[in-house]
Amino acid sequence: MTAQVVRGHVFHVAGNATLATAVEALVSLPDGALVVDDAGSVAWLGPYADLPPAYADVPVRRADFVLPGFVDAHLHYPQTFAVDAYGGGQLLDWLERCIFPAEARLADGDTAGRVAEEFVRRRVAAGTTTAMVFGSAFPAAQDALFETHREAGLRLVSGRGVQTVGPPAAAPLLTGEDEAVQLVADEIERWHLVDTGEPATSKLQVAVVPRFSLSVTRRTLAALGELYEGVRGRGVYFHSHLSENDRPGDGEVTAVRATYQVRDYLDTYDGRFLPGSEVGGPGFLGRRSVLAHAVHCSDRELARLAETGSSIAHCPTSQQFLGSGTMPWRRTSAAGVTVAAGTDIGAGDEWLIPRVLNDTYKVHLSEPGTDSIALAPAELLYTGTLAGAQALDLDDRIGNFDVGKDADFVLVEASGWDPLARALEYATQQAEDEIVAADQTLFALLMGLREPALKAVLVAGHEINLRPLRWG
Ligand code: GUN
Ligand code: ZN
Repeated sequence: MTAQVVRGHVFHVAGNATLATAVEALVSLPDGALVVDDAGSVAWLGPYADLPPAYADVPVRRADFVLPGFVDAHLHYPQTFAVDAYGGGQLLDWLERCIFPAEARLADGDTAGRVAEEFVRRRVAAGTTTAMVFGSAFPAAQDALFETHREAGLRLVSGRGVQTVGPPAAAPLLTGEDEAVQLVADEIERWHLVDTGEPATSKLQVAVVPRFSLSVTRRTLAALGELYEGVRGRGVYFHSHLSENDRPGDGEVTAVRATYQVRDYLDTYDGRFLPGSEVGGPGFLGRRSVLAHAVHCSDRELARLAETGSSIAHCPTSQQFLGSGTMPWRRTSAAGVTVAAGTDIGAGDEWLIPRVLNDTYKVHLSEPGTDSIALAPAELLYTGTLAGAQALDLDDRIGNFDVGKDADFVLVEASGWDPLARALEYATQQAEDEIVAADQTLFALLMGLREPALKAVLVAGHEINLRPLRWG
């Protein structure tokens, strides 16, 4: 790879920022230069006018905007073709009527291949350079997913969705309990770190993924917990859903408490899945654990997530689609839990993380009373980039343009999406003050960005192309 200079308006949230420090850590360089070295790392970042002479001969590529690649902390590969499925009802109805049947179709190898390819194409079109991907039940479908990602050069953490119990519609997705654990162990051996062998450099990593507590039994949780205990040290992840839907009477949260006889939903992932939340085996929480939703968590659950370094994938687009409510922003962030953004395709019907950030802004401004919050543009950018890297424990490698990190970035050409171009023209005209102008521009950019304005997507300096891979 040859070195490159990328010139444009660069935004990123620098250093080891958290949500609390994102505003002060925002860097805006209206005529900036990002220098990527021949190893694909960030070599220098600053105003173009200050470009060091050493880079004077490096080819320059221009774009309107340069942003860190987006991190999608939760989406479902086997739901690629199930977006906007009409089933009426909330989570459990939708799963039975729409999703279990759609996911069952990936038992067919050709279908799985087509879905994997479309999944990669949608990801690239949305500038999602890193993703935590909820996998298919079928090992061959997972092979197709990992293969297509390896060919494309995208970062992927994924694991087969484990289900050992469920309603009749879920039958094609179920396995026996011993088989479930064996298949997860096989997937880890087959795909975890398969590209480089090192957690520090690999783009392909595996997660242990029970679908949710209602899809498994105490015995499955115990056996998966034992397995996880043995592979944690190799950087294997844990991923699942947590406390998403609490429809009175028959919602998910009520059902989990009733099935397991536990105080809190989170107890089931914390090894405390016996009645009365007694310990039944090793838990799954930790720095490489990402739980999707966390809409209805108690303070105790949030404190436990924070204490263990586990993270939340926040998916407001999906939460609206399923009538789940939304994660209380102030209370959750005050607890000290890292909150990253997830599309939750296919309950979420937008592949683009900035579209999720757009919904994030709206739903939290609309929280009632003193819970309402107007998130700053820097906080939105943080949530869709660096927070995702932190949630996936990859922030030493990606998430912003700190020198030495891998250069994962997207190039935006506003003219690709007229409404964005117009909004930027007007937003940026208003403020004389540099900081206010940066906020106006970043806000208009994140709220108004759509796929057609994404001109290029690069992972570690490599441009990812959209060429159909194998299934066409
Ligand atoms: N909980 C268990 N499975 C699912 C799923 O596929 N989507 C969502 N949004 N929640 C779930
Ligand atoms: Zn989900």
